[in-house]
Amino acid sequence: MPERILVAVAWPYANGSIHLGQTAGAYIPADIFARYHRMRGNDVLMVSGSDSHGTPVTLAAESRGVSVEQLFGQYHAEFLDNWERLGIAFDLFTSTHTDNHAAVAQDMFLKLRENGYIYNDTMMQPYCETDRRFLADRYVEGACPHCGFEQARGDQCDNCGRTLDPQDLLGMACKLCGAAPVIRETEHFFLKLSAFEERILDWVRPKDHWRPNVRNFSVGYLEGGLHDRAITRDIDWGIPVPLDGYDGKRIYVWFEAVIGYLSASIEWAKNSGQPDRWRDFWQDDCRAYYFMGKDNIPFHTIIWPSMLLGYGGLNLPYDVPANEYLNVEGLKISTSRNWAVWLPEYLDRYEPDPLRYVIAATMPETSDSDFSWREYVRRNNDELVATYGNLVHRVLTMAYRNFDGRTPDPGDLDDPSRQLLDEAGRRLDETAERVEACRFRAALESAMSLARAANAYLDQKEPWRAIRTDREAAGSALWTCLAVIDCLKVALYPFLPFSSDKLHAMLGFDGGVQQQGWSWSPDMTVGGRALRTPQPLFAKLDEAIAERETEKIGV
Ligand code: MF3
Ligand code: ZN
Repeated sequence: MPERILVAVAWPYANGSIHLGQTAGAYIPADIFARYHRMRGNDVLMVSGSDSHGTPVTLAAESRGVSVEQLFGQYHAEFLDNWERLGIAFDLFTSTHTDNHAAVAQDMFLKLRENGYIYNDTMMQPYCETDRRFLADRYVEGACPHCGFEQARGDQCDNCGRTLDPQDLLGMACKLCGAAPVIRETEHFFLKLSAFEERILDWVRPKDHWRPNVRNFSVGYLEGGLHDRAITRDIDWGIPVPLDGYDGKRIYVWFEAVIGYLSASIEWAKNSGQPDRWRDFWQDDCRAYYFMGKDNIPFHTIIWPSMLLGYGGLNLPYDVPANEYLNVEGLKISTSRNWAVWLPEYLDRYEPDPLRYVIAATMPETSDSDFSWREYVRRNNDELVATYGNLVHRVLTMAYRNFDGRTPDPGDLDDPSRQLLDEAGRRLDETAERVEACRFRAALESAMSLARAANAYLDQKEPWRAIRTDREAAGSALWTCLAVIDCLKVALYPFLPFSSDKLHAMLGFDGGVQQQGWSWSPDMTVGGRALRTPQPLFAKLDEAIAERETEKIGV
């Protein structure tokens, strides 16, 4: 029975390029997961889009002197191009700036209000008398009341992860002019989160399959008490409040962005010609996995589930495998200080699979991890090229040259050959179990340990020597290796889709690995099948790259 899997991926703000932190935090793990489940024959829907509203986007546009539409449009196009080049295969990557999204978000607003979970009230908000405007979210900075971090913003503290309201900040200053704001009264709508405190706590506590850091953070947050939050703002960019008399206000970006998972599913269904198909993923049996970095946890484990409960009849998240942070060269990524590696720049210079590999191998699943160019070059050269690429190249060229461009016959398999083939089957299953459990680092390690075992086998068999004395034995060893390589192609496809497809073709198959699916047996390596001209899967990188690239960071 195919299962239904919703792969919901955090929506990047359309205010700047994607960097490796986001790539490791959300996009690569989500894509590995989605590719694997598609290969399994499961019904997968992977959606996300550009988060195009809110103060992160307006502030960036203002500081660059371009219109918000222009800024959002530019980055949305860039994101789409980046997913294509990195092989992040969304079923739909849309944006929050669509009529469909506005309609779905407004419907949710009205229904939650009807159900008694949204009310209006007056509140005090910082107002800048110089700029003559209310200072929503990121327009104010100050110290975090929870952890004391100095540069906390009016929406969230990047240090302790707490969500904030601007007036919580200590020593507030206007982001535009630096002046201390005054406090003025304004009317807003509030989401009655307090009504969900117990239900969400009861829902989160038994989540044994969640990562401990995600569950602990969420439980701690809930135990601190769940307070009602304002979900409108005094700004003019965003989704209008669907009620008369609120022209100057917009729905808060976080309230509507999470609704994007639902609206994107609806948009996808419309596009597919089966407009009700979204219901399979939201109202029927389906496991929903949400991929993101740790700063997004409370929105996905507390606020969005509360909204879903308040709306009624929609599936809650099954798992929220949020990642910790990926540092760069030992320091926390800072986009403002350009301490980052930018995805479009990477893709202009290097191949996608080595990045997917290095990110998967160092994914910050349980604690922060580090990306360094030195490690990137080392893993590319020692692991992708030396362990996997050379295995493939040695085996394919020997078979191609000595057996007339065809797969040799298995002949009589000896014990070491049978053992290696058994190990291949076991490693493939192990890779699957680990991907299903969102343990991507460990899953990649399972596959790579098979490549190491195959190298050891090959070194022991020495078919390049045996070919002169015992052609049949050499053929049998090469056939065994070809079958194992065929298995690696499957196991590594979610991680390395480009090279797996290339290998698939060199092994003489047509179509792609996706169509073959998550299935392998040695019988698929039929003796006498025509191979295609072998070409290296990966290129060795010059050590000098590490120094050159490291120098560019932070300047
Ligand atoms: N734009 C937010 C960020 O970059 C993430 C939004 S995820 C959402 O932090 F889908 F929930 F909106
Ligand atoms: Zn803090």
